[in-house]
Parts: sequence; structure tokens; C-alpha cells
Amino acid sequence: MCGITAYIGPRNAYPIVINGLKRLEYRGYDSAGIMLFDGQGLQLSKTKGKVSDLEEITNNDEKRKNGNIGIGHTRWATHGVPNDTNSHPHVSNSGELVIVHNGIIENYDTIKKELIKRGYTFKSDTDTEVLVNLIQEVKKNEGCKLGKAVQLALNSVIGAYAIAVFDKAKPDELIVARLGSPIAIGIGENNSEFFIASDASPFVEYTKNAVYLEDEELAIIKLGREVRVRRIHNDELIKASVQKLQLSLEEIEKGGYDHFMLKEIHEQPKAITDTFRGRLLVEQNFIKLLGIDSYREKFLNANRVIIVACGTSWHAGLVGEYLLEDMARIPVEVEYASEFRYRNPVITENDVIIAISQSGETADTLAAIKLAKERGAFVYGICNVVGSSIARETHTGTYTHAGPEIGVASTKAFTTQITVLTLMALKLGREKGTIPEKEFVKYLNAMDRIPQQVEKLLEIDEHVKYIASVYKDATNCLYLGRGFNFPVALEGALKLKEISYIHAEGYPAAEMKHGPIALIDENMPTFVIATKHGHYEKVVSNIQEIKSRSGKIIAIVTEGDITVKEIADHCIEIPETEEALTPLLTTIPLQLLSYHIAVMLGKNVDQPRNLAKSVTVE
Ligand code: AGP
Repeated sequence: MCGITAYIGPRNAYPIVINGLKRLEYRGYDSAGIMLFDGQGLQLSKTKGKVSDLEEITNNDEKRKNGNIGIGHTRWATHGVPNDTNSHPHVSNSGELVIVHNGIIENYDTIKKELIKRGYTFKSDTDTEVLVNLIQEVKKNEGCKLGKAVQLALNSVIGAYAIAVFDKAKPDELIVARLGSPIAIGIGENNSEFFIASDASPFVEYTKNAVYLEDEELAIIKLGREVRVRRIHNDELIKASVQKLQLSLEEIEKGGYDHFMLKEIHEQPKAITDTFRGRLLVEQNFIKLLGIDSYREKFLNANRVIIVACGTSWHAGLVGEYLLEDMARIPVEVEYASEFRYRNPVITENDVIIAISQSGETADTLAAIKLAKERGAFVYGICNVVGSSIARETHTGTYTHAGPEIGVASTKAFTTQITVLTLMALKLGREKGTIPEKEFVKYLNAMDRIPQQVEKLLEIDEHVKYIASVYKDATNCLYLGRGFNFPVALEGALKLKEISYIHAEGYPAAEMKHGPIALIDENMPTFVIATKHGHYEKVVSNIQEIKSRSGKIIAIVTEGDITVKEIADHCIEIPETEEALTPLLTTIPLQLLSYHIAVMLGKNVDQPRNLAKSVTVE
């Protein structure tokens, strides 16, 4: 939560920091701020609202845009409501130190009381203003340099942080540090300039060289000198490892689409192909997953698999449960990471934990991984963001390679996570002998066809748009599915909720008669996944039960279906595939539907209210 970015070097910092904040807005967007230093004084501009609101304040005031050093912040409120005062950056009482912070200082109240006793005053309700004053107090008392003061102050705080700190008295230097929240440092030629950000997207057009801080690390960034990294708690000097960025500018721009979400929905054929690349080897009848190949015995001897994740990734985990149990005959449990981490779960050395996360930064998932490792389990990660905290914290894993997902509502992350889980289930099923050779070959060929089928499915956009126009004013919606498509029903409901703010519930179709059927009337649309597989007849009966109570049915059916078409109010056809692979197709129309409803209702699709792309706080 919250995006931070900073620049120090020969260029004007304003456009770099403002554009950087726009790229980081997916992390939080309830307030924004920027501090510039022009060699004379600090120019601080901040406001409740988006980066565009911040621009309105600064646009007609050249003074606010001057300076070669700038630090900026886009906020997702934790301590203190979103307002101008609580927005970052925060300045210390002396007016010398400036900070931006992503994370939470849990013991801020105790520290604040102590600082108040020592004469400090506070303008905001934030934990961040406490931290910058603590740094000032340490610096004054110890008579040390800024880097040391930040390190000592951080040793006395409890919580999570990614921070950037500037001292007016040292205008060629910035101090950054991380614990639990990400930070990347972009390095200009010969250390002539530096870029700091929560991820590399703000500086991708300026440099391809970056250092990613690890937890517990602090970096002193000084113009003309190599970045110096130290371990916060023991002062150990660490060799900063400079990585080459793979990210390109096109990947993080909208590319002609109205919204990132729409772009990302349409990117799914390519994203799934990228997930397959080098792994789905149809000609060789083989699935290559290095993560599994290197830890084969762990998987083959596993008593059970426990999948931990949150939100959409948790839904992908549920699909994984169906896949792994069906194909590889391994018992699977799927846990909300937020529950797992605190409920003292039974974990043994023979358990394989699979952690799923698009961002790789979700605090609850990260904590669940740490707990599982402490208790001796082997942890496998399925992440999208390369080099993210979860990717680093797990023993091994598989990247989805979906490319940057910027829309807050997950789309291509979900389908590529399911793609990885399907590859894993098939591979393990083959190795364990629970999938016969003929079946395996059939699956490989069916998998291979998925990207083209998704491509074809995306052509139904206008039809889905029409359905969206019919149901956009509904206040409640029900989503039903069975088997592999039960989690898709949950995901369909989540997509609608999060971007259109319409209440929606996902249910296993057969559970409807145990309660939700009471909700059915002529105003209640039910979206039913009724592909022609295993439970088809049973789902058709559920549809009839809804129709006989005047409910409206929008059904997702297999191409050529006649039965459901006769009963449902609207049908959306998906191409024929194996039952276990249908989630990769049935998901697509539900994503489009939510998208169009949200657009028709005038909602902010890419930045829905109260949400943030990566939830790095509890
Ligand atoms: C998805 O649309 C949501 N915005 C959210 O549920 C998300 O999936 C969840 O926060 C987990 O994020 P992660 O995959 O980055 O860990």
C-alpha cells in the first residue's frame, strides 16, 4: 500500500516524480504529495485525492516545480483519514528532514508520547510524522549523520516500512530503507543520478540498472558514489547487487485501451502463452517446471499441499485444489493467508506449501510463508512480479510471466496462476502415474489451444456489453458454478463487487437451495456457469429452480448448447475444452461483464475506491 518515489541528479525532479507517482497509483490513491528542493528551500505540495489533483495545485506555480531533488508519495490511508495534512511527505519539527513512507509503524503511539514529552509537536495523525521526528531526535542526540540516525531510529520501531528520507543539510544524499515493503533504486550512468521507487516502473525509461533492497536493509544514496547498503540491525555492510531490468515502457502504458483492466483482459492470450513458454512442450509430451524438477522428491513424498493466498489468488488456489487432487491425487487444503498465519496451524516437514501472489508483496501471504518455513515446510511460490518479496522468500517456484498488472482488479494474473497450477497438476499427475499417458497427451493438446480460444472468446465483447447494459442497475447478483467452476463463480462475484460496488455473492450451484434461493426474485440476476461437463444436468436443474422463482439467468455455456439456451435469459458461449481447463475460458466473459458494468456506472475501473493493488499491511 502506498507508492513512494524520489529522484536526485542533474534533471528537474518534478516531471520524473509526478510521472512516477502516476505509475505507482495502483498502490494507493487517496492522497498525493511531492517535496522539491531547489538548493534554497523545501517546496512541499500535498493534497487529498489523486496525483492529477496534486498536479492542479502545482501546475500554475513554477516555484513548486523547481529542484533537482524530489520525493513523492501516493497514499492508501492507514493512520489518519485521507486529508491534506495526513498526506506525505512529512517534515520534521526542525524543518530539516523530509520523509515518505509505505507501511505501518505499530509502536508509533508510544514513541509519539515520548517525543511530545521532549517538546515535539505534530500536525498530522500519521505514524510517519512520528518516525521523521524520531530520526531528528536521534540525529540531534547522537550527533551522527543522517544514515546512522535513520538506522538507529528504525532499530527502535516495530512495524513495516519502505522509506525515503532527505536532509536539507545534505542535499546530495537520500537515505532509503525497507522492512516488509518493497524499494527499488535505479542507478544512472556513473552514479550521476538515482531514482527511487516502490517498483521499477517510474524509472524504466531512464535506466535499466537497479538495486532491490532486501528486508532489513538501508541504503545511503549519494551522488557520484556507489550505493552503500547496510543491514539495519547489525550494521553489516552488504554488496549491492545491480540487476538488469526486463521491464519495458510499453508494458506499463495503456497502449490505446481506455483502461488498464481492459488492456489486461485482452492481453490474456499472450500472457497465457508466456506462462507456457519453455514449459508446455507438446511435441515432446513433456511439462518442464524447474521448480518441481529440482524438488521432485518433496512433491512426490508430500503428505499434502497447503495453498495460501488472498483475494483473487486465493480463488486461483481453489482451482488448484480441484486440479491437484483430481490429476495428481495429492490432498490439498486452501487457506486464507490471513487466517493461516494466526491460527497455529499444523504444519509438518512433509507438507508442501504453495503461496500464490500476483504482486509477491501481500503482507498476509508473506507472513504465512515465514510461519510455514519456521515450522520446517517446503514453500513453493507462484508469483507474477519477478524479484518480489514472496518470490525471494519461497524455496523455489514458478513465475507466471503475465507482465505488469496495473488495474487493481486482477485479470490476467488469475488466468496465468491457474495456468501454472494446471501445468503443476498435470506434471505431478504424470510423474506419479495418476494420469494415463493418453489423457496427458490429450490435456497437453487442449492446453496448447487455450490461448487461441481465449482470443476467439474476446470477440464476444459486444454481446457481453449488451448484457452488461441490461443488468447494470442490479443491486445484488448471484454467481453460481460447480466443480472447477465454483471458484470462478467466486471470482466473478469479486470482480463485480470491487469495481462496480454492486453486491455479489458466489456459491457452489448446489448450495443455492440451502439459503441463497430465498433471495431470488425478478430483480435478482444470477450468472451461472453451465458448461457441458460433469454436473451439467444438475446445474440445469438449478437454473430451472431459479427461473420458476422469476429470477433472471445469464448462463455461460459450451458452444452449441441448446438446453440452457431455451431456459436462460441470456447465454454466453465458450469454446469446447477439457472440463479441468474450463476456468481459463469461463473467467473471461465474467471479467468483461464486470468491466462494462463498472464503465457504464461511471466507476473508476482501474482505481476502485478503498482498494490498492498490493496489500502490504495487515
Ligand atoms: C483482485 O482483484 C484483488 N484486487 C485482490 O483480491 C488481490 O487478488 C489480493 O489482494 C491478493 O493480491 P496478490 O495476488 O498480489 O497477493
